Amino acid sequence: MGDESANPQLQPRNIVVTGASSGIGSVVAQALAANGDRVAIGARRGDRLDAVATHIREDGGEVFAHALDVTSLESIEAFFAAAQTSLGAIDVVINNAGLSIPAPVHESDPDCLRREIETNLIGPMLISRQVLPSMIERKTGDLVFVGSDNADNPRPQQAGYSASKAGLKNFCRTLAMELEGTGVRVTHLRLGPTESEFGLSWPHDRMVSVLENWAPFGLTRHLNVMPASVVADAVIHALGAPRTSAFANIELQPMAPIQNDEAP
Ligand SMILES: NC(=O)c1ccc[n+]([C@@H]2O[C@H](COP(=O)([O-])OP(=O)(O)OC[C@H]3O[C@@H](n4cnc5c(N)ncnc54)[C@H](OP(=O)(O)O)[C@@H]3O)[C@@H](O)[C@H]2O)c1
Repeated sequence: MGDESANPQLQPRNIVVTGASSGIGSVVAQALAANGDRVAIGARRGDRLDAVATHIREDGGEVFAHALDVTSLESIEAFFAAAQTSLGAIDVVINNAGLSIPAPVHESDPDCLRREIETNLIGPMLISRQVLPSMIERKTGDLVFVGSDNADNPRPQQAGYSASKAGLKNFCRTLAMELEGTGVRVTHLRLGPTESEFGLSWPHDRMVSVLENWAPFGLTRHLNVMPASVVADAVIHALGAPRTSAFANIELQPMAPIQNDEAP
């Protein structure tokens, strides 16, 4: 077990983290397990997911790993059935799985556009629908959504991604209204650039053209990124906050490089 004194006011919670095979999801899952919670982690790449689970267990944490494709209702149902059998009722879901496949709309592949919306928007909707009845019945629960500053500052060559994250933001607001008085909270994280594997699969030429396209719109003021641990800290803080507010909208941005006064 993780260090329970790290989370003294709370019983260990059963927390699902989607997209935990790399990047932000893996760091958030490890931090929650180290905080004393039990985590159920899901993603498509089983080998990477198992590596994260092994790491958590070696650190003394409790983890259940199971294949999950958030674009498939069948996979979502199988994942949650297995997670509940292993851990018990789910207290918290961190909807983190997401991807971006950049291209100008007129050059985009229809299947890629569909995948972005299905992964980043429809997936979290289906997962919420899956877990909410039990949370509402128990009058407690937390749904956390990993969104993006793209929701309000859309970027060229990311039309599908920006639309999915804008939709996710409004989905969170709708949920918060629907869940008023139920005891279930919603947290939306609006992340700026964060260290992860996001974009690593983009071809180099595409990455260069994306950055060139963003610059005239003031969207690449600097190239600093935050460590994913910043997101993990924010998640732990949001989940530990007194249950007196129903909706949190948290923006996290990396600090710009410190200016050197002596530079010419
Ligand atoms: N990094 C940033 O700068 C940044 C900024 C704003 C928002 N975000 C958001 O942060 C979240 C995490 O991304 P990341 O930056 O950590 O990138 P990442 O390292 O590429 O991680 C993405 C995760 O999503 C999973 N995933 C993708 N499609 C999935 C599917 N259909 N079903 C289940 N899991 C799926 C991947 O696992 P598998 O491939 O194994 O399925 C992986 O674990 C995303 O929602 C992203 O939009 C990132």
